[in-house]
Amino acid sequence: MPASTPVLRVQGLTKHYGGVKALTDAQFSLLPGEHAAIVGDNGAGKSTFVRLLTGVEQPSAGSIQLDGAQVQFSSPLDAREQGMETVYQTLALAEDLDVPANIFLGREITRLNLGPLSILNHRAMRQQSVDMLATTGVRIQDMSAPLRGMSGGQRQCVAIARAAGFAKKLIILDEPTAALGVQETARVEEIIKGLKQRGVPLIIISHNLRQVFDLVDRIWVFRQGRIICQRRTVDTNPQEIVGLITGAIDPASLSSHEEAVC
Ligand SMILES: Nc1ncnc2c1ncn2[C@@H]1O[C@H](COP(=O)(O)OP(=O)(O)O)[C@@H](O)[C@H]1O
Ligand SMILES: [Mg+2]
Repeated sequence: MPASTPVLRVQGLTKHYGGVKALTDAQFSLLPGEHAAIVGDNGAGKSTFVRLLTGVEQPSAGSIQLDGAQVQFSSPLDAREQGMETVYQTLALAEDLDVPANIFLGREITRLNLGPLSILNHRAMRQQSVDMLATTGVRIQDMSAPLRGMSGGQRQCVAIARAAGFAKKLIILDEPTAALGVQETARVEEIIKGLKQRGVPLIIISHNLRQVFDLVDRIWVFRQGRIICQRRTVDTNPQEIVGLITGAIDPASLSSHEEAVC
């Protein structure tokens, strides 16, 4: 496989709900090791795009390729099994379970696999959880305490550590810090920078342009159900991105306009 083969390549992705054109003809790609941001106003089609990418919904038209191979995810589980991990804004963690149980939720390690009578290998799950958290730099004092007592930031770190531990191809983060405080946000951003250093490709949806400019290589602007352009972070600035998001700047008017053709 040539080094330039995108990890993810999306062509003509479209989703219409009756008369509502939530997403039309989206072209998108993510290079190996690249971190990209998706930005756009409310209703621009960002969540629709992620739902189509991750198998939550099926597209009306278009195609998705992972590492050069056409894929069609029938469900989020299917997407996960093929190496794509997603952390949603509303955390899908179990309050009453401890960290290892949450990390291995739905993919428990067993000592003896007898279907419903399987014996779980708690020791292995605990050890692997410690390792996963360590690679992302997340520190949890008491691994056997239920998540209920943890802060939003700690929980988000567990969710990202889980995604990072299992993602074979890429990670998608949907507004990972929207509900977090300043320090917790900084912690999550450190984890994301660590993933960049490890070469794990990542897509982040964020309204926080400071964060976007700090973290990513490329910014994709969504507007009114279309991807209107992509800009390399080094070639743009927050004012320009705001102008593109609001429509004050016409993407065709940019001197170094990069077509959203991948
Ligand atoms: N299930 C749905 N049924 C009908 N319209 C929808 C549905 N989901 C999203 N939409 C519409 O599609 C457009 C894009 O929505 P969305 O992808 O949620 O935008 P964003 O995440 O950028 O805020 C909006 O106009 C929204 O109202
Ligand atoms: Mg949304």
